[in-house]
Amino acid sequence: MKAVIATGLNVLADSLEIADVPEPAPQADEAVVAVEAFSVNRGEALFLTGGYGRPADKGWRPGQDVAGVVVRAAADGSGPAVGTRVAGHPEGTGWAERVAVPTGKLAELPDDVSTTAAAALPLAGLTALRLVRAAGDVVGHRALVTAAAGGVGFFLTELLAGAGAEIVAVTSNDARAVRLRELGAAAVVQRAADAEGRYDLVFESIGGQEFADAVGKAAPGATVLWYGQAGLKAPTLDFFSLMAATPLTIKHFPHWISLFTDGQDIATLVRLVGAGRLHPEIGRVADWAETAQAIADVYERRVRGNAVLTIS
Ligand SMILES: NC(=O)c1ccc[n+]([C@@H]2O[C@H](COP(=O)([O-])OP(=O)(O)OC[C@H]3O[C@@H](n4cnc5c(N)ncnc54)[C@H](OP(=O)(O)O)[C@@H]3O)[C@@H](O)[C@H]2O)c1
Repeated sequence: MKAVIATGLNVLADSLEIADVPEPAPQADEAVVAVEAFSVNRGEALFLTGGYGRPADKGWRPGQDVAGVVVRAAADGSGPAVGTRVAGHPEGTGWAERVAVPTGKLAELPDDVSTTAAAALPLAGLTALRLVRAAGDVVGHRALVTAAAGGVGFFLTELLAGAGAEIVAVTSNDARAVRLRELGAAAVVQRAADAEGRYDLVFESIGGQEFADAVGKAAPGATVLWYGQAGLKAPTLDFFSLMAATPLTIKHFPHWISLFTDGQDIATLVRLVGAGRLHPEIGRVADWAETAQAIADVYERRVRGNAVLTIS
């Protein structure tokens, strides 16, 4: 079968190619999914370019966000039957014609949720959903959301708004600002430093000076959820600048730590999409032959929300 693999070149547009690979060899608790669509994330771009240390090795097979149809049910009898439409969150290797996915990381899709929309849900949607859960009580609280027009950010903004928070979202892009307002942001600013007032919740994933500026907007008693460093610069933070806002809590957030299974939380996201309460923002849909260009465009902030690649 065919799959997207890393070339070992750290220029993103040349970093991936489609090659022949062996068919998946599923464990007893894994179903094999014929992938019809997958999404790409900034995290994979960082792996490919060495943002986490060194560039990904030639032959590395990314892919954590897939949607398609089960073509082989799990041998242990768990999970969906052959022919079921699903979305899933494998550990990797999902940018391929077929992938083995643990049944606890799969959710069934109803007819009214498209495969393209479903492919955008796993990593970005799980992160957003679990950030809201980690924030605790959000009803009536003021939230500052940086990177709000990213893959995670759009989901986070709409979920927080739906849960009753008052949100000020940050994006440098005017068109994306309009959409963030439609999804429930009370106001949109270009930089955290421009946000007015103080915030009970701060969601930050850019780093550098933006981190310091966002934390500087925290109200006394606030919680800062720190979940990424898209700008690749370590946060700058001065102890004395925090004094006005103390006490506050800064929580490091890994999306993969959860009391709920990935399958359960993807099912929640799917249900919200089906009910019209969550709208995947998919700024790019293209054939999977264009995966390398799509991930380069995500990295360069040229894509609104998620990029989804389709396999016909
Ligand atoms: N902790 C976890 O478990 C977890 C899970 C998923 C993602 N993440 C991290 O969360 C961050 C966001 O992920 P994502 O998939 O939403 O990324 P994304 O789709 O690329 O969105 C990032 C957004 O950040 C904004 N931005 C502002 N300054 C930036 C800069 N200097 N460089 C890059 N972007 C900048 C851009 O918004 P505008 O162009 O609109 O201004 C961009 O749309 C990443 O760092 C990712 O690695 C962490």
